[in-house]
Amino acid sequence: MEFAVRKLAPNIGAEVTGLDLSQPFDDPTMARLRQVWLEHVVVVLPGQEIDDDQQIAFSRRIGELELINMSEVQLDGKPEIYCTTNIGDNGELLPKDHPVMQFNKGNMKWHSDSSFKTIPAMASLLRAIEVPPVGADTCFANMAAAYEAVSEEMKARIDGLVGIHSFHYSRRDIDNVVMDQDEVDLIPPVEHPVVRTHPETGLKALYVGAHTAGIVGMSDAEARPLIDGLIEFATGPDFSFTHKWHVGDIVWWDNRAAVHRGTEYEINTYRRRLHRTTVAGFCPVV
Ligand code: OGA
Ligand code: MN
Repeated sequence: MEFAVRKLAPNIGAEVTGLDLSQPFDDPTMARLRQVWLEHVVVVLPGQEIDDDQQIAFSRRIGELELINMSEVQLDGKPEIYCTTNIGDNGELLPKDHPVMQFNKGNMKWHSDSSFKTIPAMASLLRAIEVPPVGADTCFANMAAAYEAVSEEMKARIDGLVGIHSFHYSRRDIDNVVMDQDEVDLIPPVEHPVVRTHPETGLKALYVGAHTAGIVGMSDAEARPLIDGLIEFATGPDFSFTHKWHVGDIVWWDNRAAVHRGTEYEINTYRRRLHRTTVAGFCPVV
């Protein structure tokens, strides 16, 4: 099946049109789509009218799915679906201090999904069901393009460093209500290289984000500015783009090559509901 590809920004993002995910399409088409995704890191598929099961089925063509084990954000009865929403079970807008809203807040810091796991997520796909008319965009940055652009001195400094990724760390300054000690113990910190090699493209990419709590063998005083400086550099206008949501958009990104974050909106006024499927990684970060 034919589809059209339009670049969305100089270094990241492509819109794909002409493909209807509610209809079957063949494996060669899927393979071409995957190549477009690998090249552009983020693929936007607008105007898709599919349900949760169809989203799950499409995502499974990319790889095995992660199951969402955090009950606050898991869709009832469908552990493959992570809900990012401000709407409660009875259709009400959730208060700012609700646990679900704390997760949303966490998503507003630049991060790579599941980087706090030993084998982090390969891909994520968000599908827009309800979106505010203003705000609540999602921003993406290409960490391979950013790595390529850092100075040779910086490359020499960061190649070989090991980052410590901790879910607890990234939630800590949001609100402790999100995790009690048992939950903290369930997700111990993990280590990943600060510069990773993409298992499919072979490109080197920065691998730091909101879950990066520190660097092995480095004091916080040295590690913190280094991590934050790399994130700031990578998420600048040269390597990033902002997606403004419309109902029916599916945005599919490569967590091995991108960080992303949500942006603010009027949570007491507008309704927002997106469903995410998360494709598991197939190998450790190297
Ligand atoms: C996510 C995420 C950002 C947003 O679902 O993984 O980070 O804009 N979402 O909702
Ligand atoms: Mn995320």
